[in-house]
Amino acid sequence: MKVEVNGIELAYDILGQTGHPLVLIHGFGLDHTIWMDMASKYLRNHRVILPDVRGHGSSDAPEGVYKMSLLAKDIAHLLEYLGINKASICGHSMGGYITLAFAENYPERLAGLGLISSRSNSDSKEKKEGRYQMVEAVQKRGSIALAESLSPRLTDNETLIRKAYDLIVQTPPLGIIGASKGMAERPDRTSLLSRITVPALVVAGKDDQIIDLDDARKMAHVLPRGKFLAISGVGHMPMTEAPAALAKGLNNLISRVKGMN
Ligand code: MLT
Repeated sequence: MKVEVNGIELAYDILGQTGHPLVLIHGFGLDHTIWMDMASKYLRNHRVILPDVRGHGSSDAPEGVYKMSLLAKDIAHLLEYLGINKASICGHSMGGYITLAFAENYPERLAGLGLISSRSNSDSKEKKEGRYQMVEAVQKRGSIALAESLSPRLTDNETLIRKAYDLIVQTPPLGIIGASKGMAERPDRTSLLSRITVPALVVAGKDDQIIDLDDARKMAHVLPRGKFLAISGVGHMPMTEAPAALAKGLNNLISRVKGMN
């Protein structure tokens, strides 16, 4: 499905018409389909909303810098369109950066928060430089430049690497460029964590090559109602590497949001 929000056409899918609204935001270079198997198997009691982030999947990919606050605004407008006042928002990696921007700008609309293989700090100087090098590489060679460099770092599972590669290679170059610049310029949101008072979950794969396990654990400790879930044998893609374990964490988060435990 597609809707015009915040000046673009945003694509999204919804699984389940009733239940608690749970928004799952995918990471950089990917799209909403990464959640599909897990959500259709294990999250059947909720109204699961799966957007394609601006510049990704079937959403529009306009030119420009995709600030995390802009991407959060896209999600806020989508929820308004759907008539949803309050939702639990969980983001994977870049989706987590967007989730934190949502928490900062729309705290009254947040019921629960999930950070999956993500972080609250901003980029180091080296990381930032790497992003701008990637922007140049994508301008020259297209999205294949990101697919080649990112997909092998996501997981050790060859089948899942291939699937991620296929998604990244289809992501519009302008989307990769806009998101790279937006991530490079994103502010450090670590100081926000202690002010997020809704139930929260931080998930990390113990073999993640992109996110540091101790940094993830620290975020869970700083979040006033944070819980930490570290999953063994998993890299950066828990939704495809360990869907049952991640879904158990998400179902527990929603139970806490509903005041059930
Ligand atoms: C992601 O998976 O969304 C990216 O690895 C995030 C990043 O590059 O910081």
